[in-house]
Parts: sequence; C-alpha cells; structure tokens
Amino acid sequence: MGVLSLVAKAWRVGLLRTAGMVARYAVQVALNPRIQAASFVQLQPRARLVVPKGASLRIGKGVVIKNDGVILVNPGARLTLDDHFSLGHHGEITVGGTIAIGDYTTMGPCTYLTDCNHRFEPTNVPIICQPMEVKPTSIGRDVWMGRGSMVLPGAVVPDGCVVAAGAIVTRAHQPGDVIAGTPGRTVRNRFE
Ligand SMILES: CC(C)(COP(=O)(O)OP(=O)(O)OC[C@H]1O[C@@H](n2cnc3c(N)ncnc32)[C@H](O)[C@@H]1OP(=O)(O)O)[C@@H](O)C(=O)NCCC(=O)NCCS
Repeated sequence: MGVLSLVAKAWRVGLLRTAGMVARYAVQVALNPRIQAASFVQLQPRARLVVPKGASLRIGKGVVIKNDGVILVNPGARLTLDDHFSLGHHGEITVGGTIAIGDYTTMGPCTYLTDCNHRFEPTNVPIICQPMEVKPTSIGRDVWMGRGSMVLPGAVVPDGCVVAAGAIVTRAHQPGDVIAGTPGRTVRNRFE
C-alpha cells in the first residue's frame, strides 16, 4: 500500500469517527430540547443521557461523560453539571428532585449519586409499586469521588471534599472533609 493510499485511509477513518461523534452528540444532546449544553462538552461513545419529557439537564463547558456513564433525570427533576465536571466510566447519576454539582468536581469510575429512594412502609404493597421519595442531596465544587463510591439520598458533600474509594456517604459533611468507609465517616479535613 502506497503512502498516499495510507493517508487517504487514515483520513477516511478520522472522518467517519468525527461524523459518528457529531451524530451521537446531535441525537443525545443537541436535538433534545430538555438539555442545555455549553461548548466543549465531551460525550464518549457509550455514554447515555436519559432526560425525558418534564425533566431538564444543564451541562456546563468542558464537561466530560466517559464511556458507559449514565445520567438519568426523572420527569419533574432538574440536574445541573457545572463547568469541567466529569463522570467516570460506568458512573451513574439518578435524579428525582434538584441537584446542582459544582465546577471541577470529578466522579471517578463506577461511582453513583442519587437523591431518591423507593418508599417501603406499607408492607402489603410491593416496594416497586410504591412512590419514590426525594431527599435534598448535594455535591459542591472541586469534590473528588474515588472509584466505586456512592452518595445516597440526604447526603451533603460540600466544596473540596474527597470521598474515598468504596465509601458510602449518607450524611452531611463539612467543606474539605475526607470521607471514608461504610457508612462514610470523616477521617480528616483538607482545610484544617
Ligand atoms: C482517601 C484517599 C484519597 C487517601 O486520603 P488520605 O487523606 O491520604 O487518607 P490516609 O491514606 O491518610 O487514610 C486516613 C484513614 O482513612 C482510611 N482510608 C483511606 N482510604 C480508605 C478507603 N478507601 N476506605 C476505607 N478507609 C480508608 C485509612 O486506612 C486511614 O485510616 P486509619 O487512620 O485508621 O489508619 C485514598 O485512600 C483513596 O481512597 N483514593 C481513591 C483512589 C481512587 O479511587 N482512584 C481512582 C481515580 S478516580
């Protein structure tokens, strides 16, 4: 194969990749009126945004959603991802109320954030048939969630916190807390 045909092939592959990226972005973001996105948003090939009628999602500039990252905003809910937020591989966010994640926050691979639970008090109704209950939940700016960690309904993870790998956060914390374990406990504070 000559040099020219190699260059032509590389160009064609690049062109197809770019066309794929543009098509994916158009289908998932640009053509969904419920999603407002700034510039330089990167949606990797297997990332999925589920924003049905009645839900809304605002994405700041430079946000990255990596492969197999899933964002689900339920009808009536609202999610804001501030500038330079990133969601790692297999990360998942499910929103039932309103969540605004601060800028430069990083959710690592296999992390999970949600603000909703199924109700399960009446024992004569299957849990799956009971309504969802939303608890205010928040994540500030410049937070790092290590691999496999979770932030559950009612948790407050303010600016500058670090959530250790595998931690499960259920309570309110102070800015700069390093939170580890299950349930998550503060092991030190970055600002003290
Ligand atoms: C939390 C972390 C950042 C270390 O922070 P640190 O402030 O330097 O904490 P230390 O290593 O001094 O540990 C402080 C205490 O927390 C415990 N701890 C640290 N990480 C922990 C974890 N993931 N789970 C449970 N306990 C943990 C330590 O054992 C130590 O306990 P001790 O005081 O009883 O000995 C690190 O352990 C971690 O979890 N990193 C995530 C790595 C990751 O997910 N990388 C993927 C890239 S996105």
